[in-house]
Amino acid sequence: MSWKIPEATLQEIRDRVSIVEVVSGYVALRRAGRNYVGLCPFHTEKTPSFTVSEERGFFHCFGCGAGGSVFAFLMRIERLDFPQAVEAVARRAGIELPAHRAEPAAAQLRDRWVQLNAWAAEKFSRCLWSEAGARARRYLQQRGIAEETARAFRLGYAPASGDWLARALEGRAEAAAAAVRVGLLARRESGGPYDWFRDRIVFPIPDSRGAIVGFGARTLGDTQPKYLNSPESPLFRKGEVLYGLPHVRAAGGGAASEVVVVEGYMDVLALFQHGIRNAVATLGTALTASHLRLLKRIAPRIVVFFDGDRAGRAAALRAFGVCAEAGIWASAAFLPEGDDPDSFVRQRGAEATRALLDCAVPISDFYLDEMRQRSLQAPIEERAQIAAEVARSLRRVRDPIHRDVLVHAAAERLAIGEDALRAVAVGRGRDAFAPREAAVKTEPPVGTPAEVQLLEAMAQSREIARWVCEQKPDFRSPDLARCAARLAQAWTHGPPAVAAVLDELPEALAQRIRAASLGDETDAWQVARDCVERLREEAERPVREAVLAELRGLGAQGDPQRERELLRRAQAAFARKGHGSAP
Ligand code: UTP
Ligand code: MN
Repeated sequence: MSWKIPEATLQEIRDRVSIVEVVSGYVALRRAGRNYVGLCPFHTEKTPSFTVSEERGFFHCFGCGAGGSVFAFLMRIERLDFPQAVEAVARRAGIELPAHRAEPAAAQLRDRWVQLNAWAAEKFSRCLWSEAGARARRYLQQRGIAEETARAFRLGYAPASGDWLARALEGRAEAAAAAVRVGLLARRESGGPYDWFRDRIVFPIPDSRGAIVGFGARTLGDTQPKYLNSPESPLFRKGEVLYGLPHVRAAGGGAASEVVVVEGYMDVLALFQHGIRNAVATLGTALTASHLRLLKRIAPRIVVFFDGDRAGRAAALRAFGVCAEAGIWASAAFLPEGDDPDSFVRQRGAEATRALLDCAVPISDFYLDEMRQRSLQAPIEERAQIAAEVARSLRRVRDPIHRDVLVHAAAERLAIGEDALRAVAVGRGRDAFAPREAAVKTEPPVGTPAEVQLLEAMAQSREIARWVCEQKPDFRSPDLARCAARLAQAWTHGPPAVAAVLDELPEALAQRIRAASLGDETDAWQVARDCVERLREEAERPVREAVLAELRGLGAQGDPQRERELLRRAQAAFARKGHGSAP
């Protein structure tokens, strides 16, 4: 992919910006030795393990492992993609991004993709209202969707042929490639592209400003999956997209007072058609913190419409944790069992639906009441367990005052001492019921211990990095060899460039390197020398062993010439071991 910002520009930005200054905009930092520390914004903690190093140009949390350059920080905290993060930092540093940056960069690529989607949406739409769309129109009619609604949401139809869109892009290699990238086309193993959506009703998915970022598509029959969505891409991230945003904006004249969250495309359409025009759908995924942040910008009040069955109530309980972490509090409304908003509004009408929505309760109330019910019905021993579970989930509430209010309410409802509850909720008390800390995620090893330690040492200093490269160490994996070369290269631009290289390594490896960089000063030179040596030995061991084995075998047969040659090779192999001393 070509989200490309000139390396020289990136370097200028890295040189001019202070990561401590940027991070300080989000986290209260205080000086601790050579670094700065504060409470990690990426996980809940009581004592600061979030560390920022100005010298090294990166942050690293010893608690949750989050880490990276200033760009990585902004991407994560503001949910930006890389070019957006670069732009944000550049703006802060007062650096004008070169005008031609747009040429290969994100903004223009995004525009191109959005245009392509708009073109496809238009084509799908024309198809729906043409002869070819008759069956699809009948299906919509069956489902009670009026033409006006279908047009308002720009629904379309993708014909069954499989090359309808592909043929329209024939001879336009660049557009076809982009269409593959955004998931309008897929590529066969044997070459030619074919249509991703076939014989389906197509729902274009606009972002809040109306740019189409992806599609959902429903089968007319029983084909699986029932809904096929655009694949994930930088333009389309399912956990961050909501269907129906522009209509909510329009309904509220740009400022709705309430937004209703449902699960499905059809739910949004049916509600809209019945005059409830402030509904949006998650694309079948559970509510996420990014959804909440997006919703908050649209309307101050968020009501989530849950199914009335067990699964729906369980989903509402889980939503409590999501609200807690986002610090954004939604309310929950429940449908009768067996209904979804689409079926309910069609059968019972808008008034009844509004009445359900008016009964929405704050998710925290729902959560505490539900836990109270469970507690009342449980035997004594289990009550303690339930209280502990509540205390643990209150720990996820980030705002301390809000947490305190909830602790108070929880103690009252569960009829237990507030102090005990609070102790666990703020992470002081011992929590006998806490599940065992999940073992540190076991990721596939990123290299041998010697390889990893060597990279750690290379990240410590420019001189070490340079020396190690001169030794041409025997990395077993070409990826790690490349990584070593890039580290050494980055050092010529300074620590922030090194931090940027770390951003791109496998997370587990990057974490270890960052932690090592911040750790006590070990004798990195000694480590580097030892590791180069060990790698050499590891690489040569099979050669030496093979030579020795053959020598042993030959000894018996006596082939002096062959023997001499093997000895020569053995000597060469052994001689190389141990050369290359460090300065
Ligand atoms: P549902 O299965 O509840 O479908 O999925 P629905 O909205 O009631 O659809 P109809 O009424 O049968 O047409 C809810 C949402 O989950 C996502 C879609 O966004 C859907 O609207 N989903 C569902 C998928 O992405 N893929 C699927 O195969 C099914
Ligand atoms: Mn449905």
